[in-house]
Amino acid sequence: MREKLISFLKHSTGFVSGEDLSREFRVSRSAVWKCIEEFREDGYKIEAVPHHGYKLVAVPDKLTAAEVQYGLGTRKFGCEVRHFEEISSTMDEAFRWAMAGAPEGSVVTAEAQTKGRGRLGRGWVSPKGGGLYFSLILRPDLRSSQVAKLTLLSAVALSEAVQVCTGLCPLIKWPNDLLLGEKKLAGILTELRAEVDRVDFAVVGVGINVNSSGKNIPSEATSLKIEAKGQEHDRAALLREILRAYEKRYLNLKKQGFTSAMEEWCRRSATIGNGVRFEERGHVYEGVATGLAEDGGLLVLLDSGETVKRMAGDVTLHSKGRMRG
Ligand code: BTN
Repeated sequence: MREKLISFLKHSTGFVSGEDLSREFRVSRSAVWKCIEEFREDGYKIEAVPHHGYKLVAVPDKLTAAEVQYGLGTRKFGCEVRHFEEISSTMDEAFRWAMAGAPEGSVVTAEAQTKGRGRLGRGWVSPKGGGLYFSLILRPDLRSSQVAKLTLLSAVALSEAVQVCTGLCPLIKWPNDLLLGEKKLAGILTELRAEVDRVDFAVVGVGINVNSSGKNIPSEATSLKIEAKGQEHDRAALLREILRAYEKRYLNLKKQGFTSAMEEWCRRSATIGNGVRFEERGHVYEGVATGLAEDGGLLVLLDSGETVKRMAGDVTLHSKGRMRG
């Protein structure tokens, strides 16, 4: 009823009486009043005028369930949302929720994280104001060895959604960083619970610098606001677009497998065709990234002439000469 009530007020141009609301939602007028009070606490500005009723005058810039679900139109993704003003990490909460039976597509959002985490044991700077931090619970019918491909699919959906919402087209650095120019815009962390070789559930965590200013993010990072010359973006609208793009790609997996997502990954890639460097067991390797393997690994033609497949870790891009146009 909460989400429906705010949606009703958003669609209404003038005042709506408490009586009409109580009739519409088949609850008492005091239940309507209680709900309005809760929304005010969440930052919604709702005018109340005796004999006229309620009018919504401003919505908060928050990733609440009501904001995320407004006009969402997905089948599953985002149908359940838990929102936190501050949390250690949305990954922890999503894991707890998934263990307790959260349905596929459930999302945990936060305005700030105190222990945001990134790949390879790194942290993720997550201050309040400007960042989009969320974790999505998936229950894919996949072997654990196929999860790398799920991560690639996440990066494609993210890049597509950013492009739809902003016109900016982030490129993907293997395995799943989103770059604008040479700076990092977003990162994706996939964590799993698997039994024997089957994935029980996966939690995909996404951090995007949306309206962050330069002083709030690391020097090697950028934000949509910085790249759009100071223009701010609606974080909830961006999250809705990500959930739509992601669900479309994810549902497609069942019909078409990973082929189309992998092709799109290559089209949006900052890595394929470029010189890369990586370290493994104390050795530094250099070569050119030539493509993706069937399992999502990165194929690198080393300077020695040998082709190797890199499944985990990172690569550094070290030359800009692309092999393809
Ligand atoms: C990376 O690039 O290393 C991945 C960063 C992932 C950050 C997101 S923010 C939301 C979710 N919660 C976390 O603690 N991490 C992910």
